Amino acid sequence: MVTKPLHLDVHEQIECAQTLASRFYTDPAILEIEKSRIFRRTWQLVGTLSQACGEVNGGKRTISDPESFFTADVADEPIIVVRDKQGELRAFSNVCRHRAGPIALGSGCKNVLRCQYHGWTYTLDGRLIGTPDVEDVEFFDRSTMGMVPFRCETWEKFIFVNFDLKAEPLAAYLGQIPQQARGFQFDGLQFAERRDYVIDCNWKVYVDNYLEGYHIPIAHPGLMKEIDYAQYRTDTFRFYSQQFAPIRAMNESDRASFPRKDAHNLRVVFPRSHLEKKSGAHQALGGVQR
Ligand code: FES
Ligand SMILES: [Fe+2]
Repeated sequence: MVTKPLHLDVHEQIECAQTLASRFYTDPAILEIEKSRIFRRTWQLVGTLSQACGEVNGGKRTISDPESFFTADVADEPIIVVRDKQGELRAFSNVCRHRAGPIALGSGCKNVLRCQYHGWTYTLDGRLIGTPDVEDVEFFDRSTMGMVPFRCETWEKFIFVNFDLKAEPLAAYLGQIPQQARGFQFDGLQFAERRDYVIDCNWKVYVDNYLEGYHIPIAHPGLMKEIDYAQYRTDTFRFYSQQFAPIRAMNESDRASFPRKDAHNLRVVFPRSHLEKKSGAHQALGGVQR
């Protein structure tokens, strides 16, 4: 397929900006470029520290416990997040260095990871230590064939991974968010449930629509009653945007139904991690990947 050169007709002044050309939403070649230049170079939310990792002797384990792991997909790349014996959280490619078999499936508690195809074995810090029946192979050096590492950092209970080893730290992406969220009691936060929605659209269509409050008066009459729409505000920062609207002064019956709300407040960390506060709690949502 021949792809025309990428030309982004973006005007710095929003008043003069136009919607991107349609091919940015439909051309599979552009999606591939986005995967390599955007999704694989930015911090992606992959789970929380309460991510379930099976049971040991009847006790439930999570990724906060030593010698645990879970798997995930980021921009079509399979990854493994592990907690090693010393308590360090790490992320690796879940593609075996031998013939690309899956090194781990699902989640669990293990002190080594054994590839599901021919049984090459890796330690949780990524070293290759077992290669069954591989002997006398000239130039084969196990020490150069460990699992491929990615960056892995956390903010509160949220685990982020970045494929780009030279990327700026997660803190640079989050900017003022940790400071603004200091009042929230993350310690008491419990993982409630995971819901996956498959939306048949390009990822930017989803994010574009999620980012605008323009549809609230018509599409969300319940929310419209709740917020002071005239004061709805979108602030943009280097790596995230923040949308905020105060809750309307409430009458007594409203007060009974919304006892703990003080603002409609959401943040989108580029390109696809959403953090939304509802009823005094935070919800972290991973957006669409394609
Ligand atoms: S592909 Fe992993 S051991 Fe062969
Ligand atoms: Fe909406």
